[in-house]
Amino acid sequence: QTLLDMFTEKKEETAPVRIAISGWVDRIRRESKYMVFLVLRDGSNYVQCVLRGPMAQSLLARSLRRECTVCVCGDAVYDERAVTDVEVRGRTISLLGAAPSDFEGRVRVEGLEAFPHRHLLLRTQKYAKTLRLRSIAVHAFRNHLMGKGMVEVTPPTLVNTHCEGGSSLFEVDYYGKPAYLTQSSQLYLETACPAVGDCFCMLPSYRAEKSRTRRHVSEFMHLETEHPFCTFDDLLTVIEDMVCGVVDTVKAEAGPLLESLNQDVPSPQKPFKRMTHTEAIDWLREHEVYKDEEAKTFYTYGDDIPEAPERKMIDAIGEPVFLIKFPASLKSFYMKKCPGEPLLTESVDLLVPGVGEIVGGSMRMHEYGPTMDAFEANGLPPEQYHWYTDMRKYGAYPHGGCGLGVGRFLTWLFGLHSIKEVIMYPRTVDIISP
Ligand code: 4AD
Ligand code: MG
Repeated sequence: QTLLDMFTEKKEETAPVRIAISGWVDRIRRESKYMVFLVLRDGSNYVQCVLRGPMAQSLLARSLRRECTVCVCGDAVYDERAVTDVEVRGRTISLLGAAPSDFEGRVRVEGLEAFPHRHLLLRTQKYAKTLRLRSIAVHAFRNHLMGKGMVEVTPPTLVNTHCEGGSSLFEVDYYGKPAYLTQSSQLYLETACPAVGDCFCMLPSYRAEKSRTRRHVSEFMHLETEHPFCTFDDLLTVIEDMVCGVVDTVKAEAGPLLESLNQDVPSPQKPFKRMTHTEAIDWLREHEVYKDEEAKTFYTYGDDIPEAPERKMIDAIGEPVFLIKFPASLKSFYMKKCPGEPLLTESVDLLVPGVGEIVGGSMRMHEYGPTMDAFEANGLPPEQYHWYTDMRKYGAYPHGGCGLGVGRFLTWLFGLHSIKEVIMYPRTVDIISP
């Protein structure tokens, strides 16, 4: 039981409790020469402290400012006027660390210029809330998947293979040989299925994304799952259950905190609407979303749907949608073709309002012959993938899986504008520090 629980339950009946509290000065209000109110932040919560009389007049009290660290000893009492219903009536105060006077100015900067100050911004309410809620959500994902009996594995993130196409690879010098930061752990995750069955991993993936959008970063937390002997329908159910399950858990564990960040928390309903890529193109045509606004040309069935029209569509629909059966020409080499429709793949993107794609998944091509043909068609050297192609020799099995961008999921859940707001230190084409 925390001090706060004790006071909020027992209210006025509680006798004062002598405590010492160390923390950062979050707010100061100088009521008069003889009375100073401080709100201290110790990371776990906020608490109001009041300094009276000579304490308020001391040199120390007069020099205090935002972000100084102090230790206040005093009597904690219930007081519903205080931020967290507790007031600490200070008896002594000591300064642990001073702070310059420019904090407020540094955290008020906006746009790209704000990123050099991110380490200070983290202390402000919005970012502190996103860090805390992110932690709850990440645990909820793990608990959800482990609750289904799935095993978490840890593939390497330094690799010498592609997964999602050559254009977004970060190359590194690996002891004189080329290697890459992984784009996705999927291929390695597939190799764990014959050992442990359904499995998942949550690791960073890297993409050299040169475009500046509000949902692309160069490093993102990637939650990937893989399921032996599943069907395409099973895969969609796995994604639906996971997304709804985690939203419910975060609401149950931190509803008020989440609502203080997002007045319009999503309530996804199962089953999610399903729409084929063909139907999505039809939707864009019917709603006069043009491929070329000036020439008034329409999207056609083989076209990739870029971010802007995708978001226009999903915002208009206003609920999560499984976009399925993408043309093979738009998707990765490993995807299984639709039975009887060799130009289409058993693939899925989960779109949500405000963000667009948050999950990408598919059934995997699992027979040896077609897999080798796909390597050839995509110009991938099969020797480097010997461990991957071996899976098609040693007991091939139908399977599928998905990758969820944790940052994008949280952007949606928290109702924020940009993925950069839910990542502690985002990495983009413009940002590598702090
Ligand atoms: O759709 P993607 O590229 O799919 C894969 O990587 C598959 N190998 C996953 C799998 O089946 N195991 O990426 C999956 C998800 C996207 O839906 C998106 O949420 C996120 O990863 N993502 C990014 N998030 C932020 N910034 C980027 N640059 C991202 N690229 C992908
Ligand atoms: Mg994708």
